Amino acid sequence: MTSDRTAGIAARTASAEVDLAAFRRNVRRLHDHVGDVSIMVVVKADGYGHGMINCAAAARAAGAAWVGTATPTEALALRASGDRGRLLCWLYGPDEDLEPVVAADIDLTVHSPEQLASVVAAAAAIKTTARVQLKVDTGLSRNGSPMRDWPDLCAEAADAERAGAVAVTGIWSHFAAADEPGHPSVARQQQAFAEALTVSQQAGLTPEVRHLANSAGAITLPEARYDLVRLGIGCYGIEPVPGQAVAAGLELEPVMTLRAQLVNVKPLAAGEGVSYGHTWIADHDTVVGLVPLGYGDGIPVHASNRAEVQVGGRRAPIRGRVCMDQFVVDLGPDAEDQIGDEVIIFSGADRGPTAQDWAQACDTIGYEIVTRIGARVPRRIVADHDHDPQAGNR
Ligand SMILES: Cc1ncc(COP(=O)(O)O)c(C=O)c1O
Repeated sequence: MTSDRTAGIAARTASAEVDLAAFRRNVRRLHDHVGDVSIMVVVKADGYGHGMINCAAAARAAGAAWVGTATPTEALALRASGDRGRLLCWLYGPDEDLEPVVAADIDLTVHSPEQLASVVAAAAAIKTTARVQLKVDTGLSRNGSPMRDWPDLCAEAADAERAGAVAVTGIWSHFAAADEPGHPSVARQQQAFAEALTVSQQAGLTPEVRHLANSAGAITLPEARYDLVRLGIGCYGIEPVPGQAVAAGLELEPVMTLRAQLVNVKPLAAGEGVSYGHTWIADHDTVVGLVPLGYGDGIPVHASNRAEVQVGGRRAPIRGRVCMDQFVVDLGPDAEDQIGDEVIIFSGADRGPTAQDWAQACDTIGYEIVTRIGARVPRRIVADHDHDPQAGNR
């Protein structure tokens, strides 16, 4: 089954296979690992490139009480898809129309008195009570109320709650470096969050959920789990820190396999250059293959002459610069590969390089490798029920 996104490449030629059964298993394993707290599965940015609506449905099936998006527009798209569970979003501009968001029972994050006023106005316009979650900046220095403004924000929110305009359902913050065990900011942020919670209590707020941890924090910092953890990357089968999940006894399976067919195979003589700028020149006769994906599809130009793919069960290095639509791999002098043979760009450890291998080769993070796979690449949903013992029970 392919998703309904507008894709510009034929699915046979190249596709991103999304194994939703593996996704569900990852969500369940993470849920088991964190024990007696609720989970929010983060599906922003089209489910980190895996397809937001399918991933949200799979997350619900695997027990996620909460789903998180960055933008209200993403959250509204989930509601339009039929999602009726608890939904939190946290990033919007000053001029956005919040009425439909409030009307759709989406929890809106509020960082400032101005945002609180916008939500209160939206709730008044449609004569309802808006659900808000207050976010405090404990040290990421991105969004969130600065600690110095936090007492006032809590007091204003408590007033708005008493007036029936809002219900403060959550208090939360976000780690800067939970994926670097022992980083000094982690303890500082935990301390600041504890202080922020005390301030909110003093203001009379009694939120349903307090939450701080992302995947890395949820895996490694039991004391940071509070009532809810926000799980993103781990659900997609990518360890926030390589080896971290395994060390914690957690098996995570890759969810996305990016594959393509070889669309050309030809001999290359020693001395011939490959792709724009001839950044690679063959020092011996070899055979090269053409892969029909490029930076227009999210293959980083940084992968040029660095990353590897898998062809015929062996690794083949990228040669020359990655182009907008295609790149060239070295199949080796004795290659017998044919046009139409399968290329695994990344997948699980036993099927080819992983997204993490690509991240390392390109000096980036696994998040970016999967999230940037472009709209031209068809997503093929692989619901692998055979290997999912609980699949039939949902
Ligand atoms: C606010 C917030 N919470 C949670 C997450 C999930 O983080 P991770 O993917 O590291 O689990 C993200 C993702 O960046 C986020 O922005």
